[in-house]
Amino acid sequence: MKILLTGGAGFIGSHTIIELDKAGHSVVVVDNFVNSQQEALNRVAKIIGKEVPFVKADVRDRASMDKIFTDNKIDAVIHFAGLKAVGESVAKPLEYYENNMNATFVLLETMRSHGCKNIIFSSSATVYGDPAMIPITEECPKGHCTNPYGQTKSMLEEVLIDVQKADNEWNVVLLRYFNPIGAHQSGLIGENPNGIPNNLMPYITQTAIGIRKELGVFGNDYDTPDGTGVRDYIHVCDLAAGHVAALKAIDKKCGLAIYNLGTGHGYSVLDVVKAFEKVNGVKVPYSIKPRRAGDIATCYCNPAKAKTELGWEARYGIEEMCRDSWHFQSMNPKGYNK
Ligand code: NAD
Ligand code: UFG
Repeated sequence: MKILLTGGAGFIGSHTIIELDKAGHSVVVVDNFVNSQQEALNRVAKIIGKEVPFVKADVRDRASMDKIFTDNKIDAVIHFAGLKAVGESVAKPLEYYENNMNATFVLLETMRSHGCKNIIFSSSATVYGDPAMIPITEECPKGHCTNPYGQTKSMLEEVLIDVQKADNEWNVVLLRYFNPIGAHQSGLIGENPNGIPNNLMPYITQTAIGIRKELGVFGNDYDTPDGTGVRDYIHVCDLAAGHVAALKAIDKKCGLAIYNLGTGHGYSVLDVVKAFEKVNGVKVPYSIKPRRAGDIATCYCNPAKAKTELGWEARYGIEEMCRDSWHFQSMNPKGYNK
């Protein structure tokens, strides 16, 4: 199939290109590089041994999107493009609602006018809010999202569900990602956040390499085995492979399908720090800080539905995730900006 990846230069998109290529699909990327760089695509080209066709454009730009669909016979879209920093979304709600919602509206309208009705959407475990059940199955009711970023994911899920309901020629797959970390084994591509990282793993790798003095552990008084927050970390290459598997659902004309993509294992912040230190032989100085606003105690999934219906399951464990995150950071101490 020919797949359009919106936001394909980003962390998850760049790894997904490689898995799609391995599976024999061809790709086109559209990205405005608001949170990524062309260098990521240059490095993917090195890994797969061929250029990555891409268009530098904003998904909100109708003319550019129309041209992409006129120039390419797109079979399906994987829609990664969006702003994703939780804290920034609280400070800049309008920018987040405007970018994430309008990009999706323009994309869906362009797809419809070109007769392409197959889409995989990057959703998030954040739509479960403080989850009503652990482990979380897809049956778990959606919860209250505490920030505009999460609201856009939840609202866009509803938009996509309604579009599919109105026209059953659409195939819509909502992938609810848990916590992607790790990097491609080559060490050439990985997570490359701008400024001070919000997320745990980039903060750990930047601390281990000396860019940050110490990791702040946000709270040790949660109702969890060691008091620190528990999450379902998933290797980004496993997550990328989940998109290839989701294309099978589209191929079988799934209509609407929703899948959790996680490992089903919960690790605390201190579990991750310990695993990272052990597997990489480096120290991660940390101190306990107050809880971060909006955080929940525990979030991990039951990934059985993706296994049964798509034949997909995560292959990598926490040690491989820690090893590959560190490999990328040590090969690229300043990220893509050498
Ligand atoms: P990322 O920021 O690395 O990638 C997103 C890409 O979209 C970037 O390359 C950015 O430049 C591009 N983009 C944003 N707005 C755009 C626009 N209007 N037009 C064109 N390009 C645009 O993020 P990621 O971690 O790769 O996440 C990919 C998707 O998965 C996002 O939608 C994100 O919200 C979602 N997601 C991520 C996580 C996570 O923890 N990384 C978890 C759950 C869901
Ligand atoms: N944490 C720290 N110190 C840090 C950063 C994080 O202790 O410097 C802790 C958090 O409190 C939490 C855990 O590490 O307990 C994971 O935090 P992250 O910020 O890495 O991830 P979240 O689970 O908060 O959220 C992430 C993405 C969301 C996404 C969600 C589920 O940021 O966008 O995973 O996929 F929705």
